[in-house]
Amino acid sequence: MTAYSRLLRPLLFRCDPERVHNLALVACRVAGRLPPVRSALRRCLDVQDASLRTDLGGLPISNPIGLAAGWDKSGQTVRLLGHLGLGFAEIGSISADLSHGNPKPRLFRLPADRAIVVYYGLPNPGAAAVARRLHRVGRCAVPLGVNIVKTNRGADAPGETDEETLEDYLRSVRELAPCSDYLTLNLSCPNAKKGKDMFADPLNIGRLLERVAELRPTLPVFLKIIPSADPAFLDGVIAQALPHGFVRGFLFNLPPGKPPWLQLQTPRSIWESMPGAVSGHPVEEALNTCIRALYPRLPRGRFQIIGVGGVFSAEDAYRKICLGASTVQIYTGMVYEGLGVVRRINQGLVELLRRDGFTSVREAVGTAHVSPG
Ligand SMILES: Cc1cc2nc3c(=O)[nH]c(=O)nc-3n(C[C@H](O)[C@H](O)[C@H](O)COP(=O)(O)O)c2cc1C
Repeated sequence: MTAYSRLLRPLLFRCDPERVHNLALVACRVAGRLPPVRSALRRCLDVQDASLRTDLGGLPISNPIGLAAGWDKSGQTVRLLGHLGLGFAEIGSISADLSHGNPKPRLFRLPADRAIVVYYGLPNPGAAAVARRLHRVGRCAVPLGVNIVKTNRGADAPGETDEETLEDYLRSVRELAPCSDYLTLNLSCPNAKKGKDMFADPLNIGRLLERVAELRPTLPVFLKIIPSADPAFLDGVIAQALPHGFVRGFLFNLPPGKPPWLQLQTPRSIWESMPGAVSGHPVEEALNTCIRALYPRLPRGRFQIIGVGGVFSAEDAYRKICLGASTVQIYTGMVYEGLGVVRRINQGLVELLRRDGFTSVREAVGTAHVSPG
């Protein structure tokens, strides 16, 4: 047990989750302004090992572990994110216009399941405000991804046309591409009612990519798609992405709601009253199944998978890598295990790679698919 899980977590878990989240953001924003704190954290949390070095859609990274979208939704902690031992970090989701998200309460914990129930509904200050902030603070010390989503205008807002949805994404791409190292187009938000289903049809993903291509993006773009192992859907998405060289890979979002296969340990009477999607341990297997289905369908060397969902340990990250993920993102694991988890995962990965005779994490990608003999 770490000091975080023994001492700090029990205290934090007594308080309202959104309040704790906001406090953590403020603490990180302040810490990010203090160079001695930044360098002390870096010294404590960084793991430098040649075997961990790889790339994210062509961007060199010192290790394959990144921060998943949703923790810093507006780029307030960018000064600190490069000093936490992460190989890369993703902020957002950010939409063209400001959104207040869903009504509170909208964030819950399920400690018995090592899970979070998230119903934020994409609150963020809007692309122009975030772009101004990013220009002001300067580059992040690790590659910074900005996750872009369609504006959630609330349940009572009038429906929008497909064209309006596409334009919403494009406005954000124009604003945010100049201050990002990579972009993720979030094409599936489990908690935004409007625009959610449009990208369940790969042809609509193609329509969006055609429009993004007109902006001639020069940075890698990843697509965050609905969790699916359906070969027809995956092949459709790949076919739409192939003509666009700027699309460098895929990741899977959380499934909406509480599908029965989650098999939650928490009694139904507790989670029933919590709207939203479940992250963390309960989704690990299902999202691994999606990676397992997608990897063999990808043309080699053309696309990467960012593995995300239920990573708490080096073994969890390594499993995703062996199934086909080139890099791995983490969110819920940091809430349950603290900042030190990234260091422990990277140290553990070095050992697992060595144990299996790999000199680089790249060599391990997809090796679970190689049939013996
Ligand atoms: C509180 C919370 C907020 C999130 N917000 C976003 C978001 O705004 N955009 C997004 O693409 N994913 C969002 N996610 C999903 C995460 O990026 C990640 O895909 C998911 O949580 C699975 O990883 P984990 O099990 O390590 O948490 C959110 C997740 C959580 C727990």
